[in-house]
Amino acid sequence: MKRKLTVEYEEFSSRKELPAADRALLDAAIDALKGSYAPYSHFNVGAAVRLADGTVVKGANQENAAYPSGLCAERTAMFAAGAQHPGVPFEAIAVVCAREGQLTANPGSPCGACRQVMAQYEREAGKPLHIILGSGATIFTLDGVESLMPFVFNDL
Ligand code: THU
Repeated sequence: MKRKLTVEYEEFSSRKELPAADRALLDAAIDALKGSYAPYSHFNVGAAVRLADGTVVKGANQENAAYPSGLCAERTAMFAAGAQHPGVPFEAIAVVCAREGQLTANPGSPCGACRQVMAQYEREAGKPLHIILGSGATIFTLDGVESLMPFVFNDL
């Protein structure tokens, strides 16, 4: 039997079109770019997680001379949120990428490892994570990590 999976997402043509809460989180991710440490790739990524109590935790990619020791912006933000606000459910995450001080033309999209980590916090929260993938123009929003990573590993 052949089966098909479909993914739903919303597309916006500018940050001005976003609902206020999404715009605020995207702006936090853009602000987080200031913390990017990317002397090797020169590719800056900012992320911001909003928790159920309204707290916003920012993160940015952190590179290292031993390349694999670096960490993506999304996991930097999520692990900071998890460590500083244990047990507070995750509601949303925004991600944005930039090169040479300019936001990318297309929405940033988290790597597989970051998606896996998102899935875990989403499971802990017990409801779909709202995901905002930003850029200088087009913005995508999705609900649920399953939309980004079908058949995500789940040990339960
Ligand atoms: N990067 C992120 O921060 N998030 C992703 O989802 C993919 C890639 C970072 C890692 C590295 O510092 C730079 O982007 C280039 O790969």
